[in-house]
Amino acid sequence: MNAYSEDVVAVPVGTTLDRFIKRQQQASPAATGELSQLLRDIALAAKIVQREISRAGLLAVTGSFGTENQHGEAQQKLDVIAHIRFLRALRNGGEVAAVVSEEEDQVIHTGNPGSKYVVAIDPLDGSSNIDVNVSIGTIFSIYRRQSQPGTPAVEADFLQGGLQQVAAGYVLYGTSTLLVYTTGQGVNGFTYNSSLGEFFLSHPTLTTPVDGRIYSCNEGNIVDYPLAIQQFITACQQARFTARYIGALIADVHRNLLKGGIYLYPATQAAPAGKLRLLYEGFPMAFLIEQAGGSATDGQQRLLTKPISTLHQRTPLIIGSTQLVDLVTQQNKLLL
Ligand code: AHG
Ligand code: MN
Ligand code: MN
Repeated sequence: MNAYSEDVVAVPVGTTLDRFIKRQQQASPAATGELSQLLRDIALAAKIVQREISRAGLLAVTGSFGTENQHGEAQQKLDVIAHIRFLRALRNGGEVAAVVSEEEDQVIHTGNPGSKYVVAIDPLDGSSNIDVNVSIGTIFSIYRRQSQPGTPAVEADFLQGGLQQVAAGYVLYGTSTLLVYTTGQGVNGFTYNSSLGEFFLSHPTLTTPVDGRIYSCNEGNIVDYPLAIQQFITACQQARFTARYIGALIADVHRNLLKGGIYLYPATQAAPAGKLRLLYEGFPMAFLIEQAGGSATDGQQRLLTKPISTLHQRTPLIIGSTQLVDLVTQQNKLLL
C-alpha cells in the first residue's frame, strides 16, 4: 500500500474522509461543494446503517432494542431500514433531487427539485447474509441530472448510461466497515473507527492486480451457465484456482479487488437476463473496478457501455482482474 494517495492531491493515510473530500474539492476549481456534501451525506447514512447492522442480532433475539423508535423500524427487515436511512440522509442533505432504490419501483422525489444530482442505490446488498452474521454492503451511484434543476427529476436522469456516472462506491459492513468510492480519479477506501465515529483513509489509490487466482460464482448454478462460462470455470479448477463466494456482490468484488480474481454472475435458467441490476449494482461496481484498473463485462460488451432502458433492468456480470475477464471474453468469442 502506498503511504500517500496519488489521486488529485497526495493525501496521507489516516486522513479523515471529511478532510479528504475537502482537499479533493479544493483541487478542482470548478467544484461548488455540492458533490462533496452529497458524499458526506452518504457517509453519514453509512454510519447509521452500520449501527443498525451491528445490533441486528440483538433486535432479532429480543425485539426490544429500538422499540422507542417512533417509525417502528425495528420491526422491519434490515434492507428496508437501510433504504429508509439512506433516503432520509439524502433528503435532509438537500443535494439530491431524486433517488432510485432497489427497494422501490418508482423514482423517489426527495423534495429538493433544485438539486443537480440523482442517486441510485442498493441500500443493502447480500441480504441473505444478514441472519447469519456474514458481510453485507451498500452500493451507490451518482449522476448529474439532465433535466433542468428546479423541475422534478425524471427517469431519464437515471438512464444516462454507466459512462455518465459522476461518482460511485460501496460500503462494506464486514469485519470492519469500509467506504470505497471513486469520482473518476482513482479509487480510495476509508475504514470506519466506531469509537471516533469517523472514516479514515486506509486504502489510498486502490489498484487491482491485473491477474489473479480466485474465482467467485454460485457454482450450484453451473449447469445453467453459458458454455463459455462453464469452460472457463473448468479451466480455473484445472489450474487449481481458489473458489470463494460470499453471496454478497460487494464482499466478493472487494476481496477480489484487493487480491486479484474474478466474480461471475452469468445468465441462468432462473434469471435469463442475469440476476444483478444494471443501475445500482452493475454500473457502479464496473465504474469503480475500471477506475482501479480492472474490467467488467456482461459477457458480450464492456458493461459501462451497455444500453439501459429501465430502472431495474438486470444484467449478467463478469468483473475483476483484467486478464481473467479477457479470458472469459475470448472463450465466449471462440464459441460464437
Ligand atoms: P441483494 O441482496 O441486493 O438482493 O443482492 C444479492 C445479489 C448479490 O449481492 C449476490 O452476489 C447475489 O445476489 C447472490 O445470488 P445467489 O444467492 O443467487 O448466488
Ligand atoms: Mn444487491
Ligand atoms: Mn439489496
